[in-house]
Amino acid sequence: MTQVNNDVIYLKDYLSPAFLVHSVALTFDLEPHQTRVHSLIQFERNSKREVGLPLVLHGVDLKLISVAVNGTPLSESDYQVTAEQLVITQVPNAFELAVEVEIDPANNTSLEGLYRSNTMFCTQCEAEGFRKITYYPDRPDVMAAFTTKVIADKTEYPVLLSNGNPIDKGELDNNRHFVTWQDPFDKPAYLFALVAGDLQVVEDSFITMSGRKVALEIWVEPENITKCDHAMASLKAAMTWDEEVYGREYDLDIYMIVAVNDFNMGAMENKGLNIFNSSCVLARPDTATDGAFQRIEGVVAHEYFHNWSGNRVTCRDWFQLSLKEGFTVYRDQCFSADMNDEAVKRIEDVAMLRTAQFAEDAGPTAHPVRPDHFIEISNFYTLTIYEKGSEIVRMIANLLGPDLFRKGSDLYFERHDGQAVTVEDFIAAMADVSGIDFTQFMGWYSQAGTPTLSVSGVFNHDLNQYTLTIKQQTAPTKGQANKQALHIPVKVGLLNAVGEDLPLTLSAGDASGAQGDTDRVLHLREAEQSFVFENITEEPVPSLLRGFSAPVKLSFDYTQDQLLHLMQHDSDGFNRWDAGQRLAIAALKEMIGQFESGEMPTLNPVLIEAYRGLFDAGLEPAILAEMLVLPGEAYLSEQFDIVPVDGIHACRNIACKTLAQALTVELEQAVNDNQLSGDYRPVAEDIAKRRLKNTCQSYLMALETESAVERSWQQFNQSDNMTDVQAALMQLVHSKQDEKANAALEIFEQEWQQDALVMDQWFQVQASRPHPDALARVKALMEHSAFSLKNPNKVRSLISVYCNQNRANFHSIDGLSYQFLADVVLTLDEMNPQIASRLITPLTRWQKMDGKRQKLMQAELQRVAAANLSKDLFEVVQKALP
Ligand code: TRP
Ligand code: ZN
Repeated sequence: MTQVNNDVIYLKDYLSPAFLVHSVALTFDLEPHQTRVHSLIQFERNSKREVGLPLVLHGVDLKLISVAVNGTPLSESDYQVTAEQLVITQVPNAFELAVEVEIDPANNTSLEGLYRSNTMFCTQCEAEGFRKITYYPDRPDVMAAFTTKVIADKTEYPVLLSNGNPIDKGELDNNRHFVTWQDPFDKPAYLFALVAGDLQVVEDSFITMSGRKVALEIWVEPENITKCDHAMASLKAAMTWDEEVYGREYDLDIYMIVAVNDFNMGAMENKGLNIFNSSCVLARPDTATDGAFQRIEGVVAHEYFHNWSGNRVTCRDWFQLSLKEGFTVYRDQCFSADMNDEAVKRIEDVAMLRTAQFAEDAGPTAHPVRPDHFIEISNFYTLTIYEKGSEIVRMIANLLGPDLFRKGSDLYFERHDGQAVTVEDFIAAMADVSGIDFTQFMGWYSQAGTPTLSVSGVFNHDLNQYTLTIKQQTAPTKGQANKQALHIPVKVGLLNAVGEDLPLTLSAGDASGAQGDTDRVLHLREAEQSFVFENITEEPVPSLLRGFSAPVKLSFDYTQDQLLHLMQHDSDGFNRWDAGQRLAIAALKEMIGQFESGEMPTLNPVLIEAYRGLFDAGLEPAILAEMLVLPGEAYLSEQFDIVPVDGIHACRNIACKTLAQALTVELEQAVNDNQLSGDYRPVAEDIAKRRLKNTCQSYLMALETESAVERSWQQFNQSDNMTDVQAALMQLVHSKQDEKANAALEIFEQEWQQDALVMDQWFQVQASRPHPDALARVKALMEHSAFSLKNPNKVRSLISVYCNQNRANFHSIDGLSYQFLADVVLTLDEMNPQIASRLITPLTRWQKMDGKRQKLMQAELQRVAAANLSKDLFEVVQKALP
C-alpha cells in the first residue's frame, strides 16, 4: 500500500476545477500484471478560476511511463510526481495531454480501480478509483466525453466492454484483438467502466416510450448463464416504471450489466455498463431465496434509476453524495413497493433504518446526510447517506404531494441535465414548483443524529378537545453539540373506542390536509408545540407518525390497552405493525428486568393473547408474517442505553418458546394452510405464504418436538426452492439437533460446493448459530476451501454475520471475539481497506456496552490504532477511540 496522507477535506473549501476536460481517449493494453494505459486528454483552463494555476492530476499506485503536452514529451524536471498527484506547473490555456502509465491489476486486492475477479478484468471507479487507472482530475464536477480502446488476448478475453456504443473492432498481432467504445454523454470519471473476459450474454430488448429500441445485455461467466432471467425481467420492469412514474426514458442504444464475484458493494451505475456484485444479479429458484430475488429486483432498479438521478444529473462534489443516493434509494423503494406489497416493503425499510441507521446516528461515526468533512469518502457510503437520505426525499415528496413532486423532479432533471449539482439545486426545484419554504427543512441535511419526539395527549371533556403536545430533541453528536429544531412532518390519526378513525378538525397548530380528513400532517417546527383537535367527544387513542412520516424516535406513554387497540384497528398498516412491536418490546423489557434480578423471566400473557388474536384477524399472510416476528436482538438493543446482551438473547428465546407452546395449534394450522404447490414464483403472494409458513415453523422448532424437527428435515430434503431449503437448514442448524444439523450441512455442502453464492448462505447459517462454540466454528470455516478473505461476499457472510448477528457470542465476556475481529480487520486492511473499515463497525459501538466489555473493546481498538492503517480504517478508528 502506498503511503498516503490523512488530510481532512472540507466542504467549505470547495473550489471549481482549475481545468476542464473536453474529451478523453483511453487505450488499455490489458495484461494481468502489466497493463498499459495510454490517455489523450483535451484540457482547457476554467475561466472561473485564477490565471496561471498549475495542472494537478490525481493518481495513486501508478507507474508513470511518459508525459507529453501538445505532442512534446516532458522531462522529469517539468513535473512532480507524489504518492497521490502529478503536478505540471507550466501549461498553456488549452492543450492536449498524453500520458502513459503501467498498472498491476492482478495485485490490486482493493477492488478499486482496474482489478481482476476470477479470470476477468473489471473496474470500480466510484468514488475515487479512477485515479488508480491513470492521472486525471478525478472529481465529479469534471465531465467529459470518453472514448475507450480495449486491447487484450483474443482467447482469454473474447469479450471487451466499456461505456457507450462500440464503434470499431479488429484483430491485432500476437492473437490480440481490440474493441473501441464511445460514450456520447459527458460524464465524470467515477462512471467510467471496463470489462474484459470470457463471458456469455443473455440478450433482450426494450422499446422506450418514444419508440427507440434498446439492446439489453447481461454478461456473466458461462456457469451462470441460467441465472439471469430475474435480473432481466427486473430491468425491463424498472425501465417501464421510470417512464410511467417519472417520465424518464433511457438514452443510449445499449444497456449492459456484468456480474462479478469480487465486489465491494452491491452494484455500480457506470454509464451504459453497470457492474454488479454477482449476489445482486444471479438467481434461480433452486439457488436463491425470496430475499435474494427481491434484493436483485431492487438493486437492478436502483442502478437503472441512477441513469437520471446520478448520471445525467450528477454531484458537484462528494459531500453531495446523498443527492444521488438518497433520491435513488427513494425511487427504488417506491418501485419495489409497487412491484410487491407496499405495507410490507415500508415495514422492512423502516425496520432496517431503525435498527442500523439509528445505531449509526448514535455512534461515533454519526454524520449529517450532507457531511461537511471527511478523510476518506468511501467511509461515507453509509445507511445515513442512503437510507436517511431517502427518508428526507420521502418527506419532501409527502410535503408536495404526488403531482407537485413530479413537477419538481421534472424541473430538476430539465434544469440540470448534463450538470454536476448540489443538494440546494434539488431543493430549489422542489421549492420553485410548490412555493414551500425549505429553509428550516435544510437542517435535515446538516444535522447528525436522530431526533426524539416526546408526545403527550390531553383530553378535555368540557371543551370536546384533544390536545397533542410534541417536544423534539436531538442528542449532541461529535462536533455538533447544539442541535436546532427541525421541521418534522408528523402524520396522525385519532381512533375512537370501536377503532374507527375520527374526522380531524384542528383549531390550533400548523398542519396540512383538509379539515375533516381522518389523517392530518402536523408540522412540528418548534422545540415544543401543541395541536388542538376540536369536536372530540371521547378520549381517543392517537395513532402517531403514520407510515413513519419522519425518521425519528417517538415516545408516547401508551397503555397496554391502547397498544392492543391500535394493533387491532389502526387503519394505517404500518402503525398497526408498530403497535405490535411496542407491545412486544414492553413485554421483553419486563422479562429482561426479571432476568437481571435473577428471577425466571416469564412472558406477559397479554402478548400471547394479542398474538393469538392475529391468527383470526383476517390479515393478509404478508402482514400476519410481519406481525408475528418479535423485534430482533439489534432493535431491542436500540431500546437501551447500556445493552443487556445476554438478557436480550435469553429472554427473546424464552418468549419464542412460550409463544410456540401457547399457540401450537394456530402455528401448525398456519404451516399447513400456507403450503404452496406448483412452480416457484418470486411474486408477492407466494413470498408472503412462504414467509408465514417458515416463520410459524421456526416458532415450532423453538420447542424441538419430534414432529417439528421431522417437518424441518422433510422440508430441507424435499423442497425445490432455496427459500424453503434455507429456512429449514437454518431451523435445524440453530437447534440442538446436532445430528440432523450436521447431516443437513453436509448434504448442502456436497450439493453446492461449486456455487459461490449458495455457499455464502452455508457460511451465514453457521455464522449466526447461537451455540457457545460459534467462534471456534467461524475460525474453522475460515480454513474451508470455499472461504477467502479476498472475497468481500465471503467476509460478509462469515465474519460480518458472526459479529453483527450473533450478538451474544460476539459480546462474550471473555473478549475473544473482539480480539478475533481486530485480528481479521488488521489482516484485511492490507488487502482491502474499504471492507476492513466497514467490518470494524461493531467494535466501534462500545459506548452502548457495560464497563467490562467497553474496556475490552477499547483495548482492541487501541491495538488496531497502533498499526499502520489505510486512510479508510484510520478515519473510523480515530473517531471511535475513547
Ligand atoms: N453508486 C453505487 C450505488 O449505490 C455504490 C457503489 C458501488 C460504491 N461500488 C462502490 C461506492 C464502491 C463506493 C465504493 O449504486
Ligand atoms: Zn446508488
